[in-house]
Amino acid sequence: MTSTASVETLDDLQIASIQERVGRAIDELLASLPDPAQLSADQRRGLIARYSAVLEGNFIYWMTGAYLAVRSEEARSKILENLHEEVRDSHPNMLRKFAIAAHAVPTVADAWAVYRDLTKVRLFIGRLSAAPLVLTMAFFEGFIQRFMAFLADLAQRQGSTEMEYTDVHGVCDITHTEELWRSLEAEMAINPVDPETDIFEGMDLLRTLIETIVDGGPDPRRN
Ligand SMILES: [Fe+2]
Repeated sequence: MTSTASVETLDDLQIASIQERVGRAIDELLASLPDPAQLSADQRRGLIARYSAVLEGNFIYWMTGAYLAVRSEEARSKILENLHEEVRDSHPNMLRKFAIAAHAVPTVADAWAVYRDLTKVRLFIGRLSAAPLVLTMAFFEGFIQRFMAFLADLAQRQGSTEMEYTDVHGVCDITHTEELWRSLEAEMAINPVDPETDIFEGMDLLRTLIETIVDGGPDPRRN
């Protein structure tokens, strides 16, 4: 073992392997996206509508859950900064304008399509389990930055030029992402994860929800 390796703590190794698994989940999700050119106008509308049905009314709830759960100063200040931005710049309104301009305001059927998987994510958030929650938000943060080009492409094909939402969220902010990982590390140090806990539970639930947003999920009439 080299001297550099010897100062590497177990937490460093743990964070590195968590980051790797989260990065892989993001890559797989992005690789599974359909080609916008191959989608019908109705499929494009549905995808934007389901995304809006999930994100417009829930993202601030998810972030608030993370804020209530964490105890470390790093995590609290990072999440608070994010919440300020969401509320001050009214990201829900930005997303609503995006959906209106793409003729993709969610319908009752769109809300039903995501209901089951969204409920699972909501209940997970409600358990206020700090590290899994911060990890879930880090996953989403990494995903959304790279998903925005796809979402903007769909909207443009729907005749929209309203791109404030996708422009704001499509910025690859490396500092911001690094701060989120540091928050997770700080939180795990203060608030160790029970060995029985599946730290990836929220990420996996959110990933399933995003897959449902993309493919429309099972036909609700069959349930
Ligand atoms: Fe936002």
